[in-house]
This record gives sequence, C-alpha cells and structure tokens, in this order.
Amino acid sequence: MAKNLLTINDLTKKDILDLIAFSNNFIDEDGNFRKEDLFPDKIVANVFCEPSTRTKMSFAVAAGNLGCNVLDFDVDTSSIQKGESIFETIDALNLMGVDLCVLRHPESVIRDLAEHLPKMVFINAGEGSISHPTQALLDMKTIIDHKSDLDGLKIVIVGDLDHSRVTSSFVEGVSNFDIDSLVFCGHPEMCQKYQNTDFGIYEPDIDKALKDADVVMTLRIQYERFEKDLNLDLDSYKSAYQLSTEKLGYAKGDAIIMHPGPVNYVEITESVYDSENSVIRQQIANGVAVRMAVLSRFLSS
Ligand code: NCD
Repeated sequence: MAKNLLTINDLTKKDILDLIAFSNNFIDEDGNFRKEDLFPDKIVANVFCEPSTRTKMSFAVAAGNLGCNVLDFDVDTSSIQKGESIFETIDALNLMGVDLCVLRHPESVIRDLAEHLPKMVFINAGEGSISHPTQALLDMKTIIDHKSDLDGLKIVIVGDLDHSRVTSSFVEGVSNFDIDSLVFCGHPEMCQKYQNTDFGIYEPDIDKALKDADVVMTLRIQYERFEKDLNLDLDSYKSAYQLSTEKLGYAKGDAIIMHPGPVNYVEITESVYDSENSVIRQQIANGVAVRMAVLSRFLSS
C-alpha cells in the first residue's frame, strides 16, 4: 500500500475491500467502537483549514480509540494568522515528531507536502473540491453493509456535483467495481463536469434518474465554493432536485439514501432524512470505523 492516502487511486480494489473488511473489526452491530491502545507512541495531528464536524471529529475519535496522542490544530489561533504558510506550519509539526497528519485544505497542497516531508504520513481529509478519499471509503462500506456488494447496483448521485469532492472520490472508488449504472442528476450548471464522462450518464430529470435506483446519494449546494453569487430560486430548485418521499417512490423500495452531511434540507426533505431508507446517520458511525482502519494501516506501514 502507498505510504500516504492522498487519493482513492492510491488504493487498489483489493486495498479498498481489505480496508472495509478491516474496519468491520472496529464497530459492532450496535455501533460501539473497539478501543485498544495499539499506537500509544504515535502522534496524530488533525489540521483542518476548512470547516468540518464529521470528518475532523471522527478522525479525532478514531485516533483516540487506537490509543494515539491526538493534536487538534486550531487554524484560527495558529501562526497561519500571522502569515505563516501551510508548508512551514506542517514542517514545524514534523520537527516536533508528529507521525501522521490528517489534512483538510482548500488548495491542492498535500502532494507537495508529502513529497517534502517523507518522514510524515499524510491522510487527505478534503482537498478543495478535488478529493475526499476516506469519505469514499465510508460511503462504499455503508453500501456494502446494506447491499453486500457494489457490483450490479444502480447508483444515483443528486445535487451540486461540480463542487463536490465527495462525488469525485466516490466515482473514482466505485470505478473499481462492476456497478450496473452510475447516474448523475442535478441543476445543469452544477453538473457541468458530469454531462460528458465515461464514468456514468447525466440525467437532469430526477424522476427518470431515480427509476429503479438501489442507492441514492444526495449532496448539498456548496455555496462557499461558488465564484459568483448564486442566483437560484430555491423553490424551483427544490421542486426539480430535492429528494422528497414522492420522488423517492421512483427508486426501488429498498433503496438506501445517503448524504455525507451537513444536511441543509434543500437537497433532501426531513421526512426522507428520517425515513427507514436513510442510512445517513450510519454513515457518520462508519466514518469512525473506516478512519480507525485507515489510521491503523497507515501508521503500521
Ligand atoms: C463533505 C465535505 O466536506 O466535502 N462533508 C463531509 O466531509 N462529511 C460534504 C459537504 O460539505 O457538503
């Protein structure tokens, strides 16, 4: 396995399946996590230069469950506020003996950092709108938990796909499998990258897109990533793309509904979020299990 987890493409299909199988050892059916002092001599720094709740806290919980020392780097009170670069910042952590850096950053800096600081292990926790590999792993684990396999499934992704690193890493991840079809749906201006790809088909009509779907992944509008003001009429957006109970009727009865969070209830109604089909809260718990597996593997290699 590669030394760092910078993109899902650092993993083979076997690595992906092994990590998911390994993560199952860390969570039981009731959602309780195994806690063991496996890495008491390792220091993990959580460096998040963009907002986060689930990813940041689940990495902290995962590292704590494994017995690591966890440093919560607070960008707002750090010397980044005095003009220090991300390179000098991470180099300082490296010189202090930090073994592994979990990094979320709006720009693509992680590859350069990993090259220049070979002693440290880097795990990508979100690179601008480009990639989010551990989210893809937890999404694939959640699907496998419910459908036992990714092969043969119809998977639909609805929402602001262009700004979504969740989508790009998920698409890379599932391209290792024989899924039946991958359908991209959403406002044409939010799905420009997905209208002509080899990975799947774009279907702007949500009712058609959802027909016989096994998995529906919904995504919020990433307002913070739009360069221009978004002149959007929310009511017409919701009537075209919000996943409601009525629209869900087009999918298979046992379709699972996913969302990486945070949920804005523009892209999905509260009743679908709360429905039996929703696995959104399980995704959060799976995030801890998958990150325990990732940290264990990359701290041991
Ligand atoms: C996503 C992210 O940050 O890319 N959230 C997450 O990691 N759970 C999706 C989002 O912010 O909409």
